[in-house]
Amino acid sequence: MKKAIYPGSFDPFTNGHLDIVERSLRVVDHLTIAVLKNTSKKNLLEPEKRVELIREVFEGNDKISVETFSGLLVDFMKEKNTNTVIRGLRAVSDFDYEHAVFLMNNRLLSEFETIFFMARADNSFISSSIVKEVSSLGGNIADQVPAVVYRHLKKIYGHD
Ligand code: PNS
Repeated sequence: MKKAIYPGSFDPFTNGHLDIVERSLRVVDHLTIAVLKNTSKKNLLEPEKRVELIREVFEGNDKISVETFSGLLVDFMKEKNTNTVIRGLRAVSDFDYEHAVFLMNNRLLSEFETIFFMARADNSFISSSIVKEVSSLGGNIADQVPAVVYRHLKKIYGHD
């Protein structure tokens, strides 16, 4: 069985992430969505809340599990007994960062591999930070995040 990890901040999980998850299940049998617990970064949602929302999105799908992780990604990969991560690429601007991270992870774990999925055109402008900003200012992001995430952001920012 081919397993992989899809790591990220997912603050919050967007339709761009959703598309990457669905497409990655065409090439792997099981995916662990790994939410980074990063104490130094200012996040909107607690990691446990992010996990809860993502679990709701994939409720009933036994090909997907959702967990938090902290520390090095390669250590979490060893724990999960996999050498493969999934990442999405939206634009050339994502490439430099992803390349550097790949090289570092590959240095830390020689069998490390990343499968990159190019974002579909209609998702290529979606990012968690833009979604948060627009939502906080009362803009409608209903078509950019899963319904559970949309409802939660609406509750946080107190508007319809
Ligand atoms: O959604 P993001 O914020 O782009 O995800 C970045 C993430 C979580 C994949 C990356 O920051 C990560 O793997 N962090 C764990 C710490 C680590 O292993 N760092 C070494 C590689 S730079």
